[in-house]
Amino acid sequence: MPLVNTTEMFKKAYEGGYAIGAFNVNNMEIVQGITEAAKEVNAPLILQVSSGARKYANHTYLMKLIEAAIAETDLPIAVHLDHGDSFELCKSCIDGGFTSVMIDGSHLPFEENIALTKKVVEYAHAHGVTVEGELGRLAGVEDDINVSVEDSSYTKPEEVEEFVSRTGVDSLAIAIGTSHGAFKFTGEASLRFDILEEVARRVPGFPIVLHGASSVIPEYVDMINQYGGNMPGAKGVPEEMLRKAASMAVCKINIDSDLRLAMTATVRKVFAENPSEFDPRKYLGPARSEIKKLVKNKLINVLGCAGKA
Ligand code: G3H
Ligand code: 13P
Ligand code: ZN
Repeated sequence: MPLVNTTEMFKKAYEGGYAIGAFNVNNMEIVQGITEAAKEVNAPLILQVSSGARKYANHTYLMKLIEAAIAETDLPIAVHLDHGDSFELCKSCIDGGFTSVMIDGSHLPFEENIALTKKVVEYAHAHGVTVEGELGRLAGVEDDINVSVEDSSYTKPEEVEEFVSRTGVDSLAIAIGTSHGAFKFTGEASLRFDILEEVARRVPGFPIVLHGASSVIPEYVDMINQYGGNMPGAKGVPEEMLRKAASMAVCKINIDSDLRLAMTATVRKVFAENPSEFDPRKYLGPARSEIKKLVKNKLINVLGCAGKA
């Protein structure tokens, strides 16, 4: 099966009350762990690449890894640019074979966000590529920029219809209280489901995206802290909140931090228990297996997209 854009997968996800997992990829073990899990449960997938991932691993290497995953799995997979910050970056990814891009103009004034997003949509649609925009601003760390809680802002539902109709975007990321990274809440976790409901009322049937949606799985945080790490107070979005969002208008749920935690916890454990180990396959192999286990659980029990490929 060739790479797909997100049109069909979002349509089915909206109608079926589930969400597609959008997992960040940075190397071979991450691509393999995610795609092997999806194959076992027959789930559609979005593999997303940040500009940082592209700098780290190189566009061609990542595309070839994803092509290999397609050949091995025969699943509908979209390859998506995560947090594109310029027309030029989006164009480069579209020209290089991505089937979906995000243009993140959420830090710009409304009119400038519309103008930039529209420009990307025009180029992308002419090439069969789908586009995700963003309104509202998440807190947390993304591409080395730290957005403080004070600088973050919830999406204003009254801006959504105009943004969607004037830009022509295919999906929209909104800010309802999630944030990037491993430290999402200092007290009780809470999300503004009222904003999500109001957005869905204003643009019925339109796919919504949730960023910063890792659960920061406590077992991995504990393992990291037990085996020499230091991540006190790490906390994520409870799984039942993600299930609720997936049953509403949210069709794409972004997960990166949980993959990082699973990988780091596993590697730390291997080294702590086997200080003389120096074969990378002996720590990257178990890390890949842990990613597979984690993703399988997400696809079946959190996103609800198992069996939907
Ligand atoms: O939203 C941010 C993602 O976790 C990607 O992170 O820019 O460090 O690759 P990165
Ligand atoms: P997490 O940091 O919660 O995994 O969010 C990832 C994300 O939103 C990527 O765009
Ligand atoms: Zn994000």
